[in-house]
Amino acid sequence: PAPGWTTTADVVVVGSGIAGLTCALRLRERVDRVLLVTKTVLSAGSTTWAQGGIAAALHPEDTPEEHLEDTLTAGVGLCDVAAVRALVTEGPARVHELVALGAEFDRDAGGEIKLTREGGHHRDRIAHAGGDATGAEISRALIAALHRVVDDPGIEVVEHALVVDLLSTADGAICGVTLHVIGEGQVDGVGAAYGRAVVLATGGLGQIYTSTTNPPVATGDGMAAALRAGARVTDLEFVQFHPTVLFLGEGSTGQQPLISEAVRGEGAFLVDGKGARIMAGRHPLADLAPRDVVARAILDVMRDQGVDHVWLDARHLGRDFLAARFPSIVARCHELGFDPATELLPVAPAQHYASGGVETDLVGRSSVEGLYACGECSCTGVHGANRLASNSLLEGLVFAHRIADDVSARLAGGELPLRTPEVADGEAAVLDASRRLDVQRAMTRGSGPVRSADSTRGALSTLRDLALEPPTGVEPGPLTWETTNLLHLGQVLSLVALRREETRGGHVRSDFPERDDARWLTHLTATRAPDGV
Ligand code: SIN
Repeated sequence: PAPGWTTTADVVVVGSGIAGLTCALRLRERVDRVLLVTKTVLSAGSTTWAQGGIAAALHPEDTPEEHLEDTLTAGVGLCDVAAVRALVTEGPARVHELVALGAEFDRDAGGEIKLTREGGHHRDRIAHAGGDATGAEISRALIAALHRVVDDPGIEVVEHALVVDLLSTADGAICGVTLHVIGEGQVDGVGAAYGRAVVLATGGLGQIYTSTTNPPVATGDGMAAALRAGARVTDLEFVQFHPTVLFLGEGSTGQQPLISEAVRGEGAFLVDGKGARIMAGRHPLADLAPRDVVARAILDVMRDQGVDHVWLDARHLGRDFLAARFPSIVARCHELGFDPATELLPVAPAQHYASGGVETDLVGRSSVEGLYACGECSCTGVHGANRLASNSLLEGLVFAHRIADDVSARLAGGELPLRTPEVADGEAAVLDASRRLDVQRAMTRGSGPVRSADSTRGALSTLRDLALEPPTGVEPGPLTWETTNLLHLGQVLSLVALRREETRGGHVRSDFPERDDARWLTHLTATRAPDGV
């Protein structure tokens, strides 16, 4: 769309989770003008919903090397070791900086940060806040830090700004974004923000499925815009389904309540309808096996027993402990009519995290000049085929610093000029927002927690039909752009899910149930939406 207004900054940061906020704050220490844009309000992204915590080798007996080992094991052979090394070695210092900035983690009687365990970790290394409200506390602290500098003319925040597309020069370098801003007062409608660099920190794509733990804003906008701009998008088939999402019935769609893995970390366990322990004998870490292993075990039980959920037993932890350690989860359970102190909780896997995304190097640069990606929308290589629990907040934090340092060094060296965008021809076709549930259903059935060649072909066929629908009468606007993003990513995700003929991490194929290192110790990448895989 043609921009009705324009603004210019040195760097445009898109998104306000841990990745975007950290990046913007650190950039502002080093560059003259940072613009931070976010789709709704600063606190609406996935960070705020993170329960379990942030993983880092903070205990004196723990080491980054052990954290690295657990991360590589969870990633099932596809992690980038150098990226993981950066994550685990820089992680502890970044967490301490977060504390210095004002984030209040739970502490023991001696004043040390309390650490718990989650799936795939061989040590207690998950720092948490407010019991089970870690992301909300981190978000609060970062937004408070932003408000402390908000009078600074060097940093501007625009809320209610959906990124529509990336602006490119004739030779493909990124030089800004088009935005749809609603209700801001000063600027409204479609506009353009120009920058010497653009950092995408737009989070995940959970809304591509009918049920997800992700908030409504998680529609893959940054990933889809990067794909349309020709950036490499990698590992999209590795979608993490969280094993323990409160099951509210087949018809319950959209964001679902998460029961943190930390509940199992404190001793809860999974049982089937007959009370048999599901994880016993399946993995040495039993209920704390890596997330993909636990989700797959539950899906096997659901298939074999013809049921739509299993049960989580936390009763033995006791009412007082549960209320003190997991206040938000217990409150949400009560609101929905469940009492974890006296009842088994019905749980089933639901979409939780995109392990893939916009491919980057070790300093967050994408394959396209001028474009960086950070956090869930990126694929830095730290997650491989399956992200280790509580590594996501850490990734956003560590790589935001790396990006801010790289961008500011390049700016100081005169490497990132202000560039002029190429004028795009015509309007891009958009999908009617009323088609969103069709996309979600096709993805859930065809490219969901368990896929096969037939099911992914089914998803592709439905999505192709939707893509070919004549766009007559469709009003471009935030809802239609989001739905179009889900369609584009769904097509690419289904194509790579069809292509990878094995089961590994978050990618489970019923027709290829084994991991196949001889053929598939490799990555699948798309560079063009939607048919350029
Ligand atoms: C959880 O609390 O179980 C989620 C933590 C994560 O996604 O890493």
